[in-house]
Amino acid sequence: MTDTATAITPDDPLDFFVDLHPPVADFRSDVLNGLKARPRTIPPKYFYDADGSALFDAITATPEYYVTRTELSILERIAPDIAERAGQGAIVIEPGSGSSVKISTLLRALDRPKAYIGSDISKEHLIAACRDLAADHPGLFVGAVCADFTAPLDLSELDIPEGRRLVFFPGSTIGNFEPAQAVQVLKNIRSWLRPGDALLLGADRIKDPAILKAAYDDAEGVTAAFNLNLLKRIARELGSDVDPADFSHRAIWNDDRARIEMHLEAKRDVAFTVAGERFEIPEGETIHTENSHKFSIESFSDLARKASLSVRDTWSDPAEHFTLYWLERGSEA
Ligand code: AVJ
Repeated sequence: MTDTATAITPDDPLDFFVDLHPPVADFRSDVLNGLKARPRTIPPKYFYDADGSALFDAITATPEYYVTRTELSILERIAPDIAERAGQGAIVIEPGSGSSVKISTLLRALDRPKAYIGSDISKEHLIAACRDLAADHPGLFVGAVCADFTAPLDLSELDIPEGRRLVFFPGSTIGNFEPAQAVQVLKNIRSWLRPGDALLLGADRIKDPAILKAAYDDAEGVTAAFNLNLLKRIARELGSDVDPADFSHRAIWNDDRARIEMHLEAKRDVAFTVAGERFEIPEGETIHTENSHKFSIESFSDLARKASLSVRDTWSDPAEHFTLYWLERGSEA
């Protein structure tokens, strides 16, 4: 094992933990630079502090946010098919280990999976999630890699058991990236696949903009609270007097780019400081906080092809709101 491996005690349910030290994202400089940029933009990865993660879970329970429950229903329906394709003793690899319900559904469906390798940028979240998973699946080899999967990541140095690999990338997380970056992310994932290995990825579909807008602006205001929590976090962690009450949540369907955009819009002329720097935002101007790209089967297949991945199969819900894709290495573009 490499020198970055953390010692695992004999009674630890984890088989390995490797810290590849993802560059510590600098919340303060990203916020300061983002607020100076035009349009003003703050990356969505900063939503997920403890409050933001709890609010995201609450979003998945709103009637309007169909994404999570639709994907899970497809996964449950196709589980036997996935099990057959993956074969016995699969090695499941999950970039950005997220929802424990989805991964448990997959692992339960598979025929005696041999190993699970989780990876996440947040070390604490990763270790806790992988320990829970190991406790729930006695006999499963469980490894955890603290790394940023959006940057190239070489798995060849790790002690991953031999076997057919199934990379699991659900949740339409791929939609958070601009197309060029999404291709890079898919190329990174492709580098983990050998011939015969596969990627099972979930991506949200283009649909009636009214359905999309409602999913990102629920009646109860949970998504609004999730978006505004970013300002609370800035106030709390960066020594800022920014007042979330000065901003309103906006969810906009951008038809040209096939994406939902979330913004925080100044309700009036607003002035505040962050880390000693002063900002003035005129009424009506926004801070762009998230893109959530939506795909047709064709547009997603095109994106995959640019990363030399081939779509071998797709499964959707009856309303075609969401699609799971089975991808394999295609020929190098
Ligand atoms: C977790 C990035 C897939 O884009 O649908 C939910 C995040 N933002 N509601 C999405 C989100 C607002 C979500 N992803």
